[in-house]
Amino acid sequence: IKKIGVLTSGGDSPGMNAAIRGVVRAGLSEGIEVYGIHDGYLGLFQDRMIQLSRRSVSDIINRGGTFLGSARFPEFKEDATRTIVINNINQRSLDALIIIGGDGSYLGAKRLSDIGFPCIGLPGTIDNDVAGTDYTIGYFTALETIVDAIDRLRDTSSSHQRISIVEVMGRCCGDLTMAAAIAGGCEFIIVPEVEFNPQDLVNEIKSGISKGKKHAIVAITERICNVFYLARYIEEKTGRETRATVLGYIQRGGKPVAYDRILASRMGAYSIDLLLKGYVGRCIGVQNEKLVHHDINDAIQHMQRPFRRDLLKTAKKLF
Ligand code: F6P
Repeated sequence: IKKIGVLTSGGDSPGMNAAIRGVVRAGLSEGIEVYGIHDGYLGLFQDRMIQLSRRSVSDIINRGGTFLGSARFPEFKEDATRTIVINNINQRSLDALIIIGGDGSYLGAKRLSDIGFPCIGLPGTIDNDVAGTDYTIGYFTALETIVDAIDRLRDTSSSHQRISIVEVMGRCCGDLTMAAAIAGGCEFIIVPEVEFNPQDLVNEIKSGISKGKKHAIVAITERICNVFYLARYIEEKTGRETRATVLGYIQRGGKPVAYDRILASRMGAYSIDLLLKGYVGRCIGVQNEKLVHHDINDAIQHMQRPFRRDLLKTAKKLF
């Protein structure tokens, strides 16, 4: 392995810069040339890349986003697109690619691995929805942002004796919602892994009110329902003023917390170790604080992220 590329793909996450830095510095230490590809698979398709030095990744460990840029590029699933990509990779004489992103990005890595091109995937997404790892790069930073927002919502909903609904990102994974609800002391949690019945929620809220609760916070994962309609429904059924807040993209930004920086740095450096040991078509994870790697096909097709029912149970006990 003499020359590799690194790219960030899909929704950005805090810590992606630290991961790129880890790949670049560990790669250069082993005498490997590293190229940074702009805007994920799109940049690979358009052959936009630059050689990176130790200095190119100075002063980025503390920065959110990804200095290489990221994109969603669904066209990558088309054979004709991939032929151009492979051609660009060959022209550039890249020996391997490090791909930092979520499960969509892993799918791209799998497609390249399937046609014999060496790839290693690093889990970079705030959603914590990637198989084969306990935590993804960016998850803990997003969690801090959400908890901070919930603290602020608590102040105002307590002053006004209101019910507050807060919509959290996570796509189809309730990890961010559950963890934020526990840390933020939310009274109700709605996650995609558990069937949601608005009437049950209203009953629970009413029972809280009858026990003297003056205000409440409901944490809900995105894509479950329209939270503004839900607010109106709760208000009608309970007689309590209800407001909804969609946290949106602020959850994706901000400087990464120390844990994300450390995780990203470890994973970045580990990807180089794996390549040097001859491992390809792998994705990196952290399990019980140890770095691990899995077959990327297995991770995508067969490995499921276990739903943290224990966390939900704990949260419910504390309401
Ligand atoms: O996967 C990260 C994520 O922020 C999800 O939580 C959210 O559903 C999605 O990306 C939003 O995607 P986009 O950036 O394409 O709007």
